[in-house]
Amino acid sequence: MKSFFEKDAVELTPDGKELVILDQTLLPNQEKYITITTAEQLFYAITLLKVRGSHAIGISAALGLAMCMNRFETNDLRVFESEFLRVKRYLAISRPSAVDLFTDLNRMESCFYEQMSCAEDGAGAISLIKERLTAEARNIKLEKIRTCLAIAEYGFSLLKPGVTIMTYCNAGYLAVSRYGTALSPIFLAQENGYMPKVYACETRPLLQGARLTSYELGKAGVDVTLICDNMASIVMSRKKVDIIFVGADTVAANGDVINKVGTSGLAILAQHYGVPFYVLCPSQTIDKDRPTGYDVKIEERPGYEVTEMYYEKPSAPVGTKVYNPAFDVTPNALITGIITENGISK
Ligand code: MRU
Repeated sequence: MKSFFEKDAVELTPDGKELVILDQTLLPNQEKYITITTAEQLFYAITLLKVRGSHAIGISAALGLAMCMNRFETNDLRVFESEFLRVKRYLAISRPSAVDLFTDLNRMESCFYEQMSCAEDGAGAISLIKERLTAEARNIKLEKIRTCLAIAEYGFSLLKPGVTIMTYCNAGYLAVSRYGTALSPIFLAQENGYMPKVYACETRPLLQGARLTSYELGKAGVDVTLICDNMASIVMSRKKVDIIFVGADTVAANGDVINKVGTSGLAILAQHYGVPFYVLCPSQTIDKDRPTGYDVKIEERPGYEVTEMYYEKPSAPVGTKVYNPAFDVTPNALITGIITENGISK
């Protein structure tokens, strides 16, 4: 599948010492890559959504952890271990609702201890562990990118030429680092001459749909129409919407889906209007340890994102109370299918 960006949204430099990310807060006005060299810079890049989207968060945490350890100089294995655990635990609290962050960091920890168990003390052992951590983080990224290609094929199998798709938030190239989940079948449909039409919901309050999805799809030449979130009902009732594709931050063991706040409302509308509603994500996003969606922590974000962030002047009286949950739970009963690299299930 073609890529429409100069490079991946998250990349580790060949020497493993710098993490380069496309700053998503500057889009669509500026396509700027920033260089990250410390755990603190990465932590803020994740919390401020410079890098965002569940899978890109996991990838950047894994690559970032490797990068921090590559820059850390010591000959003492115990000191190296305690720095590894400090950085890992610190990055793990950057965002709470996306399971990939924890899975990918835990995988890095398993890799660390596998190497440590067969290592002698000293500099040689440390440099071997650094190499293995770097390779593991790069594999995490590559596996997710490959997974997106399989998801693209399964999603594409549901589409017909001239199809109209609705999507929410951004589950594309930027949310993984290449291709994407919910958007990857659309890119494939475009490449295959299906001329797909897409309604992108703007996704209040941080406008991932407006700023990022319409940007990505536009770059790929897809016919995309932006709507405010509260227009989804009239669009489904008056226009032709064949199918809805969204991503996921976590899928609970019972198939409930945690995704950007507003997803559940769209699923309720989809049921009302009889529009098939699909969730696209790697199988690793299914968290067997969370029995239902209500067992997943929902991130709450600051009120200024609702009242000020994308306005020239405040959009509400100063001091207005704001409730700003970043995600919601879509019950499995509202979902037509969950598409992973292994196929389509319910
Ligand atoms: O707060 P964000 O922008 O990180 O939320 C992103 C979403 O909700 C995406 O739909 C989800 O992470 C899937 S990304 C492939």
